[in-house]
Amino acid sequence: MQSFIEGLPKVELHLHIEGTLEPELMFKLAERNRVQLSYKTIEEVRKAYQFNNLQTFLDIYYQGAQVLQNEQDFYDLAWAYFSKAHSQNVRHAEIFFDPQTHTARGIPFETVISGLRKAQEDAEQKTGLSSRLIMCFLRHLSPEEALDTLEEAKPFRKWITGVGLDSSEQGRPPALFQKVYEQAEAAGFLPVAHAGEEGPAEYVWEALQLLKSRRIDHGVRSTDDPELIQYLIREQIPLTVCPLSNIKLRVFQTMKEHNLRRMLQMGVCVTINSDDPAYFGGYMNENFLAAQRDLELTKDELVKLSANAIKASFIDENARQVLTAELNEYYRKNV
Ligand code: HPA
Ligand code: ZN
Repeated sequence: MQSFIEGLPKVELHLHIEGTLEPELMFKLAERNRVQLSYKTIEEVRKAYQFNNLQTFLDIYYQGAQVLQNEQDFYDLAWAYFSKAHSQNVRHAEIFFDPQTHTARGIPFETVISGLRKAQEDAEQKTGLSSRLIMCFLRHLSPEEALDTLEEAKPFRKWITGVGLDSSEQGRPPALFQKVYEQAEAAGFLPVAHAGEEGPAEYVWEALQLLKSRRIDHGVRSTDDPELIQYLIREQIPLTVCPLSNIKLRVFQTMKEHNLRRMLQMGVCVTINSDDPAYFGGYMNENFLAAQRDLELTKDELVKLSANAIKASFIDENARQVLTAELNEYYRKNV
C-alpha cells in the first residue's frame, strides 16, 4: 500500500505556502534577515507545534511567517515545497498564499507574488509540476481590509487564479465577505472558501450561496446537515479535506473517527490535501498513508480520491485529460 500511494499521481488543492515553512528554513531565513526567533533550537520549534484547536495553531503560524521578508525568501519557501511535492508524485498544485500576513508587516504585495511566481515557473520548467495561486483573505481581519487587498492584487490578476478565505473561522461567517467576493468574481478570480472546519454547516451554505464558492476547503462539518450533504453530492461540489490537519487541530479526536471515507462512499467529491504540512506532520503521501491506514481505504478508493482532485482542479481541459490518462494508466498497471 505504501508504494502504491507513493507512486499514485496526485493533485493538491489545499496547501498554504506559509504552512510549508519547515523549522530548518525558518532558522536559515531568521539568520539571513536578522529576525529574532523565540526558539533557540529546531527541536524547540517542533516541540512548540502542539495545538488544541485552529487558533492555537494560527498564533504560532503567523509568528513563523515573520522570517519571510524578501523576494528570495518567498522563492526559497515555494521552491522547497515544489521539490518535496514533486518527489511525492504531485503533478499539479493549487496553492494558497496570505498576502495580508506580509503586507501588514510592510512587505510589498509585489515582493511576495514575484518570489512565488518565479518558483512556480522554475518548478514547471524543471520538474513538470504545474501550479496555480489562490490568494486568501484573512477572515479575522475586516471586510474593508479584504477589499484593499483585492485592489492590490488586481495588477497581478494574470498570476492569480482564485480567491480564498482562511484564518479563524468561528464567529467570522462567510456572509461578512460577500461584497469582496462579488468584486473578485467580476475581476475574473475563481472563488473558493474555507468553511465547516471548526465552523458550522451553515457556513458551508453561506460559502456556496453568498460567496459562490466553487469548492469548499475542509467542509468536514457538512455531515451535520443531511440536506447539505445531499446538495454537495448532487452538485458535485468538491471538498478539499486535510486529514492530518484535522487530527492535529482536534476537529476529529482520532483518524479512525474521520468522516472522509464515509463521505467518499456517499458520493461526495472529496479530496485529500496537506493544508500546512510543516506544522501538521506530513505532505501528500503522509496524509494519504494516515487516512488509508486508519480508514482502511482500498486502492480503488485512493484512485477515486486522485480522480476527484483532477476533476476539482482549475487546470485547463487539455491538462486535465493528460492527468486523467496518466491516472488511468496507473490504475490499469497497479490495481
Ligand atoms: N484553516 C484556516 N486558516 C488556515 C488554515 C486552516 O486550516 N491553514 C492556514 N490558515
Ligand atoms: Zn487551510
